[in-house]
Amino acid sequence: ERDRIVLGIESSCDETGVGLVRLGADGGVELLSDAVASSVDQHARFGGVVPEIASRAHLEAMAPTTTRALDGAGLRLSDVDAVAVTAGPGLAGALMVGVAAAKGYAAALGVPLYGVNHLAGHVAVDTLEHGPLPRRCLALLVSGGHTQLLLVEGVGERITEIGSTIDDAAGEAYDKVARILDLPYPGGPPIDRMAKEGDPAAIAFPRGMTGPRDAKFDFSFSGLKTAVARWVEGEQRAGREIPVADVCASFQEAVADVLTAKAVRAARELEVTTLVISGGVAANSRLSGLARERCAAARIELRVPRPRLCTDNGAMIAALGAHVLAAGAPPSSLDLSADPGLPV
Ligand code: KG4
Ligand code: ZN
Repeated sequence: ERDRIVLGIESSCDETGVGLVRLGADGGVELLSDAVASSVDQHARFGGVVPEIASRAHLEAMAPTTTRALDGAGLRLSDVDAVAVTAGPGLAGALMVGVAAAKGYAAALGVPLYGVNHLAGHVAVDTLEHGPLPRRCLALLVSGGHTQLLLVEGVGERITEIGSTIDDAAGEAYDKVARILDLPYPGGPPIDRMAKEGDPAAIAFPRGMTGPRDAKFDFSFSGLKTAVARWVEGEQRAGREIPVADVCASFQEAVADVLTAKAVRAARELEVTTLVISGGVAANSRLSGLARERCAAARIELRVPRPRLCTDNGAMIAALGAHVLAAGAPPSSLDLSADPGLPV
């Protein structure tokens, strides 16, 4: 058995990502390169991703981003032994661009094609940073589009959703609260920054889905967003200046508290001793800080990939493709189509 080079393509949202990994004969997966082109600036003035703009940007960025990934790894297209691509979930038109490109490369090179799940990719990417994952582990996926607790039983083999948001994703809540506070889009980074100057106990914002009758591992952030909006409106009506840093810190505390409490509780109940936190919101300083405290207290190993790997990228898809390949799964056919609602 020789090493195999896997090319990964990601285009489910506003990032065009192309990554390369090496799958070793021992099943180890190593990051070779990771090129990302983002259309985030083109969406900023709309306060969210505009699907048509994203699709067009993917089309323009796909070939140059692939070239950058190959150059970064010092490889040529003909060195690629397998192609993996995000088949879903995501925006239909955006996914289609990546799937079409991947099919083209696989067919032209005569190598196997693997259509894979974006959410599973966010978990698999951690193996590029921290090495092999234990067979059973828990993943908290928090991004602009997703908020899920996933039970992993072999990355590249079986991932089951045990909880998810019933309304807004955590990142979406950040983006909406930023809008309320007149902070730029995407809202996560500026809120994270402002929160450092504020008091997390200044305002008692609600912790969604934590009542005795609520589903144990589900989340809800739309009530929190509404609570922030109401509170800000109240202050404005009373003619008071908005203490933006305190609002940010208190909002951020509510999000981090619920996410980490539920993840630790799930790990305990499922008797899992490793927790991976991934997705764009994993970059949040309070989320990772509180997770570190609570995991240490519960004797849970916490793994958070570096921010660049947590946000959407092609290396995560290449990594997942390599794990699927290593697990001996059959490749996809060239009839593969994008599935915007693909379940994990
Ligand atoms: O994973 P990602 O890059 O894209 C997808 O949504 O798939 O995540 C983007 C989300 C945005 O909602 C952004 O506001 C949020 O991640 N985000 C953060 C931080 N950095 C990015 N949220 C909280 N704190 C951060 N430091
Ligand atoms: Zn994502």
